[in-house]
Amino acid sequence: MRKIQIINGPNLNLLGTREPSVYGNQTFEAYFEGLKLLFPEVQLDYFQSNMEGALIDKIQEVGFSYDGIVLNGGAYTHTSIAIADAIRSVTTPVIEVHISNVFKREEYRHHSYLSDACKGCIVGFGMDSYRLAVDAVLHF
Ligand code: DQA
Repeated sequence: MRKIQIINGPNLNLLGTREPSVYGNQTFEAYFEGLKLLFPEVQLDYFQSNMEGALIDKIQEVGFSYDGIVLNGGAYTHTSIAIADAIRSVTTPVIEVHISNVFKREEYRHHSYLSDACKGCIVGFGMDSYRLAVDAVLHF
């Protein structure tokens, strides 16, 4: 069975209540239940942390054995050389995901430290960005 780890960074534990006009009304937990039903042949695991080091620990933990990592680094996307280094340090391909279209937003969201360390990026499709990323892991 193929294994894919979804990792959400800071403030994404508040999906559903956080800025609903940008991120929608659904909690990630509710979305994740539906996502698992779409991919019954895949082991999908979910981890969220607000702490940069915990995100790095999880990338290192799964990054040599899983088939893919779907990573929404939240605001660390725009600041974290350490997470970029962790992505480069593992063998599992990482897909960068954003719910919102960061390029339509503030300029400080236009740069990602993670993108060039990742296999590819999916940006701006709402929660469906995660499904597209899982599909990408399974088909590239
Ligand atoms: C985000 C975009 C980031 O700029 C922001 O800091 C987030 C969420 C997104 O999924 O659209 O926390 O990664």
